[in-house]
Amino acid sequence: MSEVDEQGARYQASDLKRFGQAILEAVDTPRDLASIVAGSLVEANLAGHDSHGVIRLTSYVAGVRTGQVQPTARAVVESLGDACARVDGAWGWGQPAAHIATDTAVNLARAKGVGLVTVGRCNHIGRLGEYVEKVSRAGQIGLMACNSPPAVAPYGGYTRLLGTNPIAWGAPRASGNPPIVVDFATATIAEGKLRIAHAIGSKAPLGAVVDKHGQPSTDTAAFYDGGALTTFGGYKGFGLSVMAELMAGMLSGTGSSSDPDYNHGNGTALFAIDVGRFLPADDFMEQVDALEGRLHAARPAAGFDAIQMPGEPEWRSRSRRTAEGIPIPSAALAAINDLAEALGVSPI
Ligand SMILES: NC(=O)c1ccc[n+]([C@@H]2O[C@H](COP(=O)([O-])OP(=O)(O)OC[C@H]3O[C@@H](n4cnc5c(N)ncnc54)[C@H](O)[C@@H]3O)[C@@H](O)[C@H]2O)c1
Repeated sequence: MSEVDEQGARYQASDLKRFGQAILEAVDTPRDLASIVAGSLVEANLAGHDSHGVIRLTSYVAGVRTGQVQPTARAVVESLGDACARVDGAWGWGQPAAHIATDTAVNLARAKGVGLVTVGRCNHIGRLGEYVEKVSRAGQIGLMACNSPPAVAPYGGYTRLLGTNPIAWGAPRASGNPPIVVDFATATIAEGKLRIAHAIGSKAPLGAVVDKHGQPSTDTAAFYDGGALTTFGGYKGFGLSVMAELMAGMLSGTGSSSDPDYNHGNGTALFAIDVGRFLPADDFMEQVDALEGRLHAARPAAGFDAIQMPGEPEWRSRSRRTAEGIPIPSAALAAINDLAEALGVSPI
């Protein structure tokens, strides 16, 4: 299937960002914060994760209207001593809070070797890869996790008690090489991707959804009718999801997704490690290059054309979409243009 249907269109990242920023400013977001949030959404589109791209503008504006997002609130950093800090997201936009946490963790790791920063009272931060990639550009390894509203069943169950709880790592490369970025939900399918599948009438991957009676289902509606997502890799993804609850949800003061009053946002934690404290940074980069060389040179198994490094699909997507534009299918285009019209913003 083509990336964009007949009624859809392709847009340059700069045009989409301007459009997103205008919509966010129309709901009273200060210009600098609107620029960060819109930039983050478009960055997700460039990376190929459209579920976290400009299509989110509709739910973001709905969040402002319900009072879940305070569009003018600004995040505040509090030192916890040594290499630790916490950010109070003040229920403002999640992306600026996550960027402040990222910059703080990088500065702590530069000064102390490692830095650990949590973010509480934090709205949706979007695609985690954006932040760990920023850490990697500082010559550091980043590890990030967050919890999120309950959507996922524990291994062996079918009740929503865990968030889709993404975990991401980023590692530096010698200049010019794409960073290593590992970034995924601990659910078998990210909820945003299920929502897109549901909207276009596609099936859910087998094993990704259990219905409200605990039966596996490929019907996306089974999730919205009281079912749950599963964790990827059975008990292994379940274990990672539980650790995201502990490390990000609880350390940030947000609590666990299973708490009855957890209904929105991302309890977040970001850990940065200064590679140069442990070995000369050039040695590390050379070893990563050598590893990549061996992995790329491995013969592909049946059904595969080539072996890719984690982060490579996003890097390829970014190059392609920067050159060709970002495809927005017709249904998504209609939704964001309807939103724009309602806010008095020119359609894209
Ligand atoms: N903020 C939130 O509440 C929240 C919740 C869930 C997910 N998310 C975000 O949603 C995004 C999508 O998550 P997802 O679970 O759909 O990710 P995904 O299943 O698409 O996996 C992406 C990861 O797998 C790697 N990858 C993909 N194909 C590969 C291949 N062929 N070879 C090697 N590596 C490969 C990518 O480089 C990337 O690291 C993530 O950016 C995540 O942070 C956010």
